[in-house]
Amino acid sequence: MTLLWMDRLATGIEVVDEQHQNFLKIINELKETFAGREQEAIGQENRMEIYRSLLELRDYAFFHFGTEERLMVSSKYPDFIRHKTKHDDFIKKLFDMEQALLHGSLVPGSIIEYVLDWYREHIGKTDQAMGQHLKAYMQAQGRDNE
Ligand SMILES: [Fe+2]
Repeated sequence: MTLLWMDRLATGIEVVDEQHQNFLKIINELKETFAGREQEAIGQENRMEIYRSLLELRDYAFFHFGTEERLMVSSKYPDFIRHKTKHDDFIKKLFDMEQALLHGSLVPGSIIEYVLDWYREHIGKTDQAMGQHLKAYMQAQGRDNE
C-alpha cells in the first residue's frame, strides 16, 4: 500500500513540506522494493539492491535534516538540541540497519516498520512543533515563508 501525503503532516514551511513529500516518495519506493517479501530473510542476491535503496534514504535524510537544522539554528529554536538528536538517532539507526543487512541478519519488514514509525512520529509531531516556531519567527520578522 502506497503511503499518501496528508495535509495534517504539513508544517506550513514550504521547503520543509516539499522535502517531506520527497522523503515519502523514497519510503514508498523502498516499500515497493520489498512488496510481498517483508518477512523473508534477505538473500545474498538482494542485499545490494536493498542496500542501494537504504543508501538513497540515508542520503536524502542527511540532506533534509541539514535544511531543518539550519532553519532551527537561524531562528533560535529553543528545542533545537532535542530535535537534532532525533535526526542523529535516525541516521545512526540507518547505519546499524545497513550493517545488519550486509551481515545478513535483517528482514525487510523490520526496516519498513522502523522507517514508517519514525516518519509518523517525527513528521507528525516533532516537525510540527518546529513548524509552529518557524512560522511565528518568520511572522515576527515580517518575512514570507520560503
Ligand atoms: Fe525534523
